[in-house]
Amino acid sequence: MIEVKNLSKRFGPLIVLDRVSFCINDASLVVVLGPSGTGKSVLLKAMLGLLPVDNGEALFDGKSIQSATDEEIYEIRKQVGFVFQGTALFDSMNVADNIALPLTEHTAMPSKEIRERVCCLLDIVGMAGRAHLYPQSLSGGMKRLVAVARALALDPKYLFYDEPTTALDPIMTDKVVGVMNNLKKSHTSSGIVVTHDLDTAKAVGDEIYMLKKGCINKLAKIKKELYD
Ligand SMILES: Nc1ncnc2c1ncn2[C@@H]1O[C@H](COP(=O)(O)OP(=O)(O)OP(=O)(O)O)[C@@H](O)[C@H]1O
Ligand SMILES: [Mg+2]
Repeated sequence: MIEVKNLSKRFGPLIVLDRVSFCINDASLVVVLGPSGTGKSVLLKAMLGLLPVDNGEALFDGKSIQSATDEEIYEIRKQVGFVFQGTALFDSMNVADNIALPLTEHTAMPSKEIRERVCCLLDIVGMAGRAHLYPQSLSGGMKRLVAVARALALDPKYLFYDEPTTALDPIMTDKVVGVMNNLKKSHTSSGIVVTHDLDTAKAVGDEIYMLKKGCINKLAKIKKELYD
C-alpha cells in the first residue's frame, strides 16, 4: 500500500502540489488525470523521492521515502517499475539490452537467465521476437511496450506509468491499455497512472483522481467539472 500524505511542492511562486493526499491500496491501479503542465510528472517524482518536496510524505508499506536513508530509498525504488513519459529507452541499445538493463545493473543474474527473462518479458507485452530491434525502428506504441517490459524486469510490486498512451493512435492505445489491464490481473497489480487521457483513465483505473491547481479530488465527486 502507498499512502501519499499532504504532499506539497512549489517552484518559486508556482504551487504545483498543494497538500495532495490519496492512497493506493494493494491490487489497485489509481489514475491521476490532469491537463498538461498540471504537475503529474512532478507528483510521481515527488512520490519516489526523486524531487525534494516542501511538505508531506509518501509512505510505501508504512515507510516514508522522505525520511528514509539512502539504502532504504534504494530498497523502496527497487519495488517500483517506472514507465517514463517519453519512454527513456537508450537508442544505442537494442530492445533486449534496454529491457535487460535493470537486471544487469541490479542483479547478479547469469546472462543466459537474463536472455530468458527478456524473452518472457517481451512475451508479456506482446512484443515477442523483437529483441534485436533498435528503438529508432519501433513505433511510438512499440516503444511504450518495451518501456513497460523494462519496468517489469525486477518484478516490481508497484508500477508507475507516466502518460503511457499519450500521442498513440487508437489501435496502439488499445494495445497498451490491454497490456496494462493484463498486468493488473497477472503480475504487478498496484500502481499509479498519470495521464491527461480520459479514455485511458476509465479503461485502467480502479480509482480516478483529478489534479487541478495543485489539489487532488476523487473523480466521482467532480465529474461535472471534468466535462465543463
Ligand atoms: N525542475 C523544475 N523547475 C521548475 N519548474 C518545474 C520543474 N519541473 C516542473 N516544473 C513546472 O511544474 C509544473 C508541472 O510540471 P509537470 O512536468 O509535472 O507537468 P505534467 O502534468 O507532467 O505535464 P505534461 O502533461 O505536459 O507531462 C509545470 O508548470 C512545470 O513547468
Ligand atoms: Mg508529465
